[in-house]
Amino acid sequence: MTNKVIVALDFETRADAMALVDALGAEAIAYKVGLQMLTEEGPSIVKSLVAMGKQVFLDLKVHEIPNSVAGAVAAAGKLGAHMVTVHASGGSAVLRSAVNAAKPYPQLRVLALTVITSLADQDLPEIGLAPSVSQQVERLARLAAGAGCHGVVASVQEAALLTTILPSGSLIVTPGIHLPTTAQNDQSRTASPADAANAGATHIVIGRAVTRAADPRAAFTEAARAFS
Ligand code: C5P
Repeated sequence: MTNKVIVALDFETRADAMALVDALGAEAIAYKVGLQMLTEEGPSIVKSLVAMGKQVFLDLKVHEIPNSVAGAVAAAGKLGAHMVTVHASGGSAVLRSAVNAAKPYPQLRVLALTVITSLADQDLPEIGLAPSVSQQVERLARLAAGAGCHGVVASVQEAALLTTILPSGSLIVTPGIHLPTTAQNDQSRTASPADAANAGATHIVIGRAVTRAADPRAAFTEAARAFS
């Protein structure tokens, strides 16, 4: 039983998502609800998961003014979410406002998104960032820690660096995970659960490698082994 492996419920329907939750059973505690599921089905999916005793990573990826961010984070807290994401590039006032808004909800952890993992070094100049993803991640991780965020989301490639920057006890949540025993999907920069754990990730987010596996429960168990 683990909450270190967060399964992404990137489905079109609530029925599909709940079928997967049922298939994984008691072993899987943590689920990521992202923009697709939230937009398709609304916040009731979060309430249902919380009512089942699951922990919800509400991946809002908020990038807004401080007042609006605070409202969204408080709404996530009211729903019973355990983690919520805010773009660190919103700046320190946004991050501080997110952290303050989470305070009434003791279970809620504010995770700062550093650089979305689809961006590579060569993509940074067109959005005015330079010189490298790792330097940008470092800069934003320091900002997030200074603002009191509970952790960050970054790729496995940056996890080891983050362990040297963030205060101890910080959460390092890494997506972009494949399982060595199953076929690759369309991801280009991926790592295994063991790579993530060895690099210092405290949690992984895993979607299709589990949800589209022939045997999702076996795939989850394989991922969870790296964190046991
Ligand atoms: O690729 P996979 O199905 O495992 O993706 C699960 C989640 O992880 C997605 O919802 C996405 O938000 C996140 N992800 C990411 N960077 C990647 C791959 C996935 O942030 N390279």
